[in-house]
Amino acid sequence: MPRLSEESPVIHSDCDLTDATFGRFVEIGHGSRVAHSRIGDYSYCDRYCDIANAEVGKFANIASFVRIGATDHPLRTASLHHFLYRSADYWDDAPHDADWFAARRARRAWIGHDTWLGHNAQIKPEVRIGHGAVVASGAIVTRDVAPYTIVAGVPARQVRLRQPVDVAERLVALAWWDWDHARLRAALADFRALPAAAFLEKHE
Ligand SMILES: CC(C)(COP(=O)(O)OP(=O)(O)OC[C@H]1O[C@@H](n2cnc3c(N)ncnc32)[C@H](O)[C@@H]1OP(=O)(O)O)[C@@H](O)C(=O)NCCC(=O)NCCS
Repeated sequence: MPRLSEESPVIHSDCDLTDATFGRFVEIGHGSRVAHSRIGDYSYCDRYCDIANAEVGKFANIASFVRIGATDHPLRTASLHHFLYRSADYWDDAPHDADWFAARRARRAWIGHDTWLGHNAQIKPEVRIGHGAVVASGAIVTRDVAPYTIVAGVPARQVRLRQPVDVAERLVALAWWDWDHARLRAALADFRALPAAAFLEKHE
């Protein structure tokens, strides 16, 4: 693990970045692709992630091989092949279909703060993962996920709460993810030692 930096993200080898913006202390794992997406402070992804058209909050933990925002091909047309919209790759006189690409980019996935997306999980376009939620390894998330819940399976369904609803609401209200770096450091021992409810008692 490299020492992370406030100044610029740590981008590991063989990444493919297009129209991607990064917050502070961000790390992008080897072989990952990030396109038309914003990755918030302290968030990271492990190896071979594919993140497209996504708003990723702060402190998101994205395991290897996660895919966010896998784009769709047209389903109503006579063909669904690339040639319909990547037309300039096939003919000199046929431009790409700009409207098609713009519509796909507008279908943004949204990943909240302090989330954990397990290995090889997939988050579909336009899905919102609430703050504090957990997506199990291998899940395919097709619907919004409520804050501080844990979902698993294909399609993903809730398996249990990460925190009781009242604690979840208090954590969202506390919004510790907006604290500055020094305040996080000062609270580090409490983050490590205290269950969430006790942490709230001390820091609300
Ligand atoms: C989601 C997760 C955090 C749940 O942890 P947990 O609450 O301790 O899970 P449990 O083992 O108690 O399982 C709870 C239920 O969810 C199911 N479940 C757990 N993980 C699952 C998965 N990945 N897919 C489908 N079902 C899963 C269990 O079968 C169990 O169901 P049951 O109650 O019907 O028996 C964990 O299983 C997981 O997927 N972690 C991600 C690991 C990972 O990707 N690490 C990469 C490095 S960051």
